[in-house]
Amino acid sequence: MEELKEIARGPIDVLIVGSGSREHALLWKFAQSEMVGEIHMAPGNGGTIGHNVGIQADDIRGLSEFARDTGCITVVGPDRPLELGIVDYFMERGLPIFGPTRNQAMIEWSKIHSKETMRELGIPTAQWTWFTDKDPRRAMQHASLRGGNVVVKADGLADGKGVYVCSSVEESNAAINAVLVEKKFGRAGERMLIEEKLVGRELSVFALCNGIDAVYLGSAVDYKRLLDGDRGPNTGGMGSYSPVGWAGDELISWIMQRMVIPTVRHTRFSGFLYLGLMITENGPMLIEYNARFGDPEAQAIMPRLNIDLLAEVDAIARGEIRAFHRYGNIFNNLGSCCVVLTSEGYARELGGAQRRIHGIEEAQGDALIFHAGTTRSDGELFAEPGKRVMSIVGVGSDASDARARAYAAAEKISFEGMHYRKEIGVQRTRVKA
Ligand SMILES: Nc1ncnc2c1ncn2[C@@H]1O[C@H](COP(=O)(O)OP(=O)(O)O)[C@@H](O)[C@H]1O
Ligand SMILES: [Mg+2]
Repeated sequence: MEELKEIARGPIDVLIVGSGSREHALLWKFAQSEMVGEIHMAPGNGGTIGHNVGIQADDIRGLSEFARDTGCITVVGPDRPLELGIVDYFMERGLPIFGPTRNQAMIEWSKIHSKETMRELGIPTAQWTWFTDKDPRRAMQHASLRGGNVVVKADGLADGKGVYVCSSVEESNAAINAVLVEKKFGRAGERMLIEEKLVGRELSVFALCNGIDAVYLGSAVDYKRLLDGDRGPNTGGMGSYSPVGWAGDELISWIMQRMVIPTVRHTRFSGFLYLGLMITENGPMLIEYNARFGDPEAQAIMPRLNIDLLAEVDAIARGEIRAFHRYGNIFNNLGSCCVVLTSEGYARELGGAQRRIHGIEEAQGDALIFHAGTTRSDGELFAEPGKRVMSIVGVGSDASDARARAYAAAEKISFEGMHYRKEIGVQRTRVKA
């Protein structure tokens, strides 16, 4: 299979769609490819200056025209353009793109559809029932029969805010009210799930898929709550680490064989497939599918990958089926720890102003820095208010080395209103309820 690399085409120009640290980490990884040409970011951020093209991530037509004019392949970071059908749009025009079609991505953008897929494939998951905005009272009755100890979820994409883990009838009523009656998530909440509440440890598992087969791309633990001790509001993710010591080869291979491969075969999924799991006393249960890489998981996993990811992505984008197994080792032997810095107001819907960021150069000696909510003006770097500003990724010989590097770097950075969690990568002994 090695010869395939030899006959592959010359420099690969690539357009990365998105503006977060996940996309910056993809840029960093792609830049190391032997085959890399130009890398463009749409729209990118203050850390990807020099690559940024002024096109928004949901401007599908604008993106397609750029891709057509430059002859680049396109890689999609976030969920929205996938739901909008960016891959279908490009494919209809013969433009190479890496990611799932709108239909394939439905396992992410409809939680009810994802549960139906799991049921068809016999994949273990929390018990569930769905309701529409026609019957909020029946939903409330269903939840109260379970003492309100349920998880309430809007069916559609809700920027990670459409899930309520409830512990009382009061909470479940409020959640059902917010989704079905107040319509807090608009059309994404026209339908809603009520699930059994699982107890265990959460794990994110990633695979690279070409429509018929998949290869394991690593796993990570991410930290969703704003504050230490898993307190405060939910966020897009405050940090992550990889590899995950307690998730052994046997568990991963079970997840690949019993969950990932059947899903890829059934949906012909192409792109990054990301499984959100709860590892319970009764084994792994699938919480959700995502049809893209995770953020902040990408930042922790990219530095661990030994493979030429751009070459793989390019082949899949162009519909070429290559065997995955020619790589001896997908991973290096390093551990990584990602700490996310946020600006004032993040996850709290408060105001705030742009703040100058200090200490980036000093911090770069200890860790990788992937930007998100940053802008550059007059040569100075600024943090935007209410955002995840950047990811600081320590890479080391083991988990504690990685963690020490990440925090050494984070301590050198400062801006007014900066916040980060202090316990990313510390092994939790408490099992989450
Ligand atoms: N059935 C469940 N039991 C316990 N916790 C859950 C369950 N479903 C979701 N959660 C919690 O809620 C979080 C978000 O749910 P998820 O389905 O991943 O939605 P999204 O990521 O789209 O917001 C999960 O990471 C997990 O912490
Ligand atoms: Mg999730």
